[in-house]
Amino acid sequence: MSVKLFIPGPIAVSPSTYAAMARPMIGHRSGEFVNLYQSMQPKLQALFGTKDPVYLSTSSAWGVMEGAVNNVCRRKVLNCMCGAFSDKWNDVSLRGGHEAGKLQVEWGQPIEPEALEKALKADSYDAVTIIHNETSCGMMNPLPQLMEVLKRFPEVISIVDTVSSFSTLPIPKDELGIDILITGSQKALALPPGLALISVSERALKRASEQKNRGYYFDLLEFQANHEKGMTPSTPCVALIFALDAKLQEIEAEGIQNRYKRHAENNALVHAWVKAQGFELFPKPGYASVSLSCVKNTREIDIPKLNKILREEYEMVIDGGYGKLKGKTFRISNMGDETSATMKELLDNLTNIIARIA
Ligand SMILES: Cc1ncc(COP(=O)(O)O)c(C=O)c1O
Repeated sequence: MSVKLFIPGPIAVSPSTYAAMARPMIGHRSGEFVNLYQSMQPKLQALFGTKDPVYLSTSSAWGVMEGAVNNVCRRKVLNCMCGAFSDKWNDVSLRGGHEAGKLQVEWGQPIEPEALEKALKADSYDAVTIIHNETSCGMMNPLPQLMEVLKRFPEVISIVDTVSSFSTLPIPKDELGIDILITGSQKALALPPGLALISVSERALKRASEQKNRGYYFDLLEFQANHEKGMTPSTPCVALIFALDAKLQEIEAEGIQNRYKRHAENNALVHAWVKAQGFELFPKPGYASVSLSCVKNTREIDIPKLNKILREEYEMVIDGGYGKLKGKTFRISNMGDETSATMKELLDNLTNIIARIA
């Protein structure tokens, strides 16, 4: 039985993506690979809103999230913490042997620009980690405003995770002044897991060149040196790169603005459903994610039961809440290839099931 994933990643992968992955293998040092890698760069740079290169890493996002801190943190990193993934980045920073300060708010609350400014003034940091879209609680941080604050701290290298928001709304890296922008394959790009994408500014590369313990696998200078040859440092997941190439062509054909609009409309359908069903969104009003909805289970629905019926009768699945929010919330993804028709189908199914079990 194939069950369609409406969880916030991994999400449903289309037959055309799987078909792209089944292309015959090529050598990663071959001219064919170099052509492929180089032909993808302009499309990737357009999506990232950057003139900087976009490196491809055969790892999940955590690989480059950890690696980025090790590459640019000289003494102390500030971790902006507002949910499971951003909280974990603090632990990951400490495990890398760095001093790591916390700017922590309750899950569902945003990182406020004023709080960021205060924290940066209170100590001398040389890097900051920010998660744009906290997938665990469906909260989207005010990234442009946070980046405005960072412009006043030129020593601080910004590392921004857009894992679950990338390609669902504009995140213009250069315009916002982001040094390191990271995303992963299994969220809105609707590819299988295993590929991370990372774009790095010149000043972040310069900082990396002054660092001793960058490691090898996630050494940004290795990525840059290989990028200049149209390659990756080590043997990459070529099948996922074929899939990414196909996805970039699909995005170009749809038009990036249309893609943003489709995500906003699909997200609005979920929000309207949440209201009509008498639920509430979990994050602070005004800070809800556009790619997924984290819904307070105010009607105390038996979510495992709901998901069991959804899976068995409709071959779909949503998420039953992350970590400490399990059961208290549920999450619905609208990212990737979803259309208003596929979102309405899911929401109608949920309506039917809730009417039966509530
Ligand atoms: C916002 C965010 N950052 C990072 C990660 C970690 O990604 P991965 O498990 O692919 O390393 C996730 C995974 O869900 C995420 O949602």
